[in-house]
Amino acid sequence: METALITGVAGFIGSSLAEKLLKDNFKVIGIDSFTNYYSTRIKEKNIENCLKHPNFSLIHQDLDTLDLSVSIEKAEYFFHLSAQPGVRASWGKEFTTYVKNNISVTQKILESLKNSTRLKKFVFASSSSVYGNQSSIMNEDTSLTRPASPYGVTKLAAENLVNLYFKNYGVPTISLRYFTVYGPRQRPDMAFTRFFHSIIKDNKLIIFGNGEQTRDFTYVDDVVKATINAATSDHVGEILNIGGGSVFSLIQIIEFMKEITEKELEIDFKTEQKGDVKHTSADISKSEKLINYKSNTDIKYGLTQQYEYIKTNLNLYDN
Ligand SMILES: NC(=O)c1ccc[n+]([C@@H]2O[C@H](COP(=O)([O-])OP(=O)(O)OC[C@H]3O[C@@H](n4cnc5c(N)ncnc54)[C@H](O)[C@@H]3O)[C@@H](O)[C@H]2O)c1
Repeated sequence: METALITGVAGFIGSSLAEKLLKDNFKVIGIDSFTNYYSTRIKEKNIENCLKHPNFSLIHQDLDTLDLSVSIEKAEYFFHLSAQPGVRASWGKEFTTYVKNNISVTQKILESLKNSTRLKKFVFASSSSVYGNQSSIMNEDTSLTRPASPYGVTKLAAENLVNLYFKNYGVPTISLRYFTVYGPRQRPDMAFTRFFHSIIKDNKLIIFGNGEQTRDFTYVDDVVKATINAATSDHVGEILNIGGGSVFSLIQIIEFMKEITEKELEIDFKTEQKGDVKHTSADISKSEKLINYKSNTDIKYGLTQQYEYIKTNLNLYDN
C-alpha cells in the first residue's frame, strides 16, 4: 500500500482528495493547522469521514514549525494543498500570513524533499490567479503570468520555487493551476457558498461588480481526479491548467441557482473588489493530453450537489 501526504487536508479540496485516495487504497497522512480564516467547525466536518478510516492519520500542526522528515520518509506522494486562500483579504497587513503560508512553507517543504529517495511525485496546488487579467484563453506556455492580487503573487512565487527545486535538485514536481473550484465543502468565503446560504436564509445576494465577470468553474471531483492523475502520471516538471471547460458569468450562475432552489432572488450589487479579475478561461488541452484530464461535470449537477450539502449542514454556515 502506498502512502500519500496531504497538506491542507482539512480544507475544501484537501479533504475531498483525502477521501478519494483512501477509497483508492492509499494510506493517507494529513497535515493541517486548522487556521482560523474560516470556521474550524467546517474543517472538522470536512475530515469527519477520514478520521473514521483506519488508513488515515492526522497531524494537527502548523507546517511552519513541523519537523517533516519522519512523514516524508514514509510517503511516495506529496500533495501540497495548504495555503492561505482568498484574493480580497490578501491586501494590507494580512499579506504576511500569505507570505508565510504560501511561500515560506512551500520553500521549507521543498528543502525537506530534496533528498527523499521514496518520493514519486510532489503535486503543487497552484491557481489561475497567477495569470491575472488576460484578454484571451489562458495557456500555460504562451500566456504571461501577471497576478492581479497579492494572493496571486504568492501563488506564483511558490510555483516558481517548485520549478527551481525540480530543475536544481530533481524533485519530481508537477504544478496544477486550479480554476475556481466549486461543489460540496466549497469554502464559505467563495461566491457559490455565499449565494446559496443567502438564498436559503432569504437574504439578498451580494455581488461585487456588475455580475458580468466570468469564471471557468471547475467541479471538485474533477479537480481531485486530475490531482491524482497528475501524481501517478510519468510527467515531471510540468505546469497544467485544471479548468472546468465551460465558462459562465455570475449572472448566468444565479439563473441556474434560481432554477435549482425554485426561489425568486434579490441582488445587491456592490463595488468591484480590488484583486478580482474580469474573466478566467482555461486552455485544458495540455492536461487532457498529459494526464488524461476530463472535465465533464454539468454545471447544474455540480451546483445541485453543493446546494444539497449546504442545506444539510446549514448550521456550519450560520455565523
Ligand atoms: N478553491 C479554489 O477555487 C482554488 C482555486 C485555485 C487554487 N486553489 C488552491 O488549492 C488549495 C486548497 O484550497 P482550498 O479552497 O481547499 O482552501 P482551504 O482554505 O479550504 O484549505 C487550505 C487548508 O490549509 C490549511 N493551512 C493553511 N496554512 C497552513 C499551515 N501553515 N500549516 C498547516 N495547514 C495550513 C488550512 O487550515 C486549510 O484547512 C490552496 O493551495 C489554494 O491556493 C484553490
